[in-house]
Amino acid sequence: MQSVSTLGYMVLGVSDLTAWEEFAVNVLGLQVGARVPGESLGLRMDDYEQRILLLQSDLDDFLAAGWEFESNAALNAFVDQARARGVEVIEENEQAAAQRRVARLFVCQDPDGIRHEFYSTAYRAHTRDAFRSSALRGAFSTGRLGAGHFVTVPRQSAQAKAFCENILGLQLSDTITGDAAPGVKLEVTFFHARSGRHHSMAIAEAPFPAPKRIHHIMVECTDPNDVGMAYDRCKRACVPILMELGHHPNDQMFSFYMVAPSGFAIEFGAGGIVVDDSTWEVKRYTELSDWGHAMNPPPHAPAQPAR
Ligand SMILES: [Fe+2]
Repeated sequence: MQSVSTLGYMVLGVSDLTAWEEFAVNVLGLQVGARVPGESLGLRMDDYEQRILLLQSDLDDFLAAGWEFESNAALNAFVDQARARGVEVIEENEQAAAQRRVARLFVCQDPDGIRHEFYSTAYRAHTRDAFRSSALRGAFSTGRLGAGHFVTVPRQSAQAKAFCENILGLQLSDTITGDAAPGVKLEVTFFHARSGRHHSMAIAEAPFPAPKRIHHIMVECTDPNDVGMAYDRCKRACVPILMELGHHPNDQMFSFYMVAPSGFAIEFGAGGIVVDDSTWEVKRYTELSDWGHAMNPPPHAPAQPAR
C-alpha cells in the first residue's frame, strides 16, 4: 500500500495575523518566512522555507495537513491509489503550490472537511538564510519526522479513522481511554506515518461536540529545557496555559499546552519517541498522562466570585 511519508506542514486559518506573528516568533520561537500582508504568513522551524502557513480567515481553525512524499513517483502512485479507492483528488495550480512552497500539490477532503494536501519536493531556504530562532536554545525536532502532529475532534469518528488507515495509509500506534476532566471520558486513537514520529495525526472522541476541528497541534524541540523556557515565556506574555507541564505514557512526550491566538491549543514538547514498525506493539492505555498536564479552566470561563 502507498502511504504518506510524513506530515511536512500544517495550514491554519487565523483571524489576527498580527497577534499570531508576535506569538509565533516570541513565544513559540518560530521564524517568519514568506509574507503577503493581510493575506498569509509563512513560519519556519528549520531549513524548509515553510512548516506552518497562516492564512487570513475568520475560522480560527485548522485548515489543512500537508503530507510529504520522498519522490514524485511515490506521490503519483499514492494519488492513483486514492482515486482508485473512490477519493476525489484534485491537482492544484502552480499558484497554490507556490503558496505552500512545494513543487506540485494535490488535495482532497476527509469525511470531516479537513483538507489533506499531498506533495513531494518542498522548497528549502537559501543557505545564507539558515533557520534562526530568537527564543529557542536548541532546535525544533523536524527533518524526516516532519513538522509535528495534530489531533482532530471529528464528528464522524469511524469514517475519520477509516480515512487515516485506508486512504492516508497511516498505521495505528496505540489508543488511550482516559479522563480529560472528572466525568469526561476521552478516547484518543494515534496514527503514525512511515517516517515514524509516534503520531502525526490523532483522533479524539469526546462525549460532547467540539468548537474546532482540532483539539491541538504539536511542535517538538530537541532540548527539554526549551519546554520549560517556552512555559516561562507563556507566563511572561500572559498566554493562557490549557494544561500544565506533564508527560504522556504512550509517546513519552514531556510537554504543556498553551492556548494560541485562534483559541485552539498548541502542545509544546520534547522527548517524543519514534516507532519502528518491525518491533512495534500496539497498546491500549488507560490514562492520558502519567503525571502532570493538570487542566486549567478555559480562558473564557467567568472568574469565580470572591467569597
Ligand atoms: Fe499531542
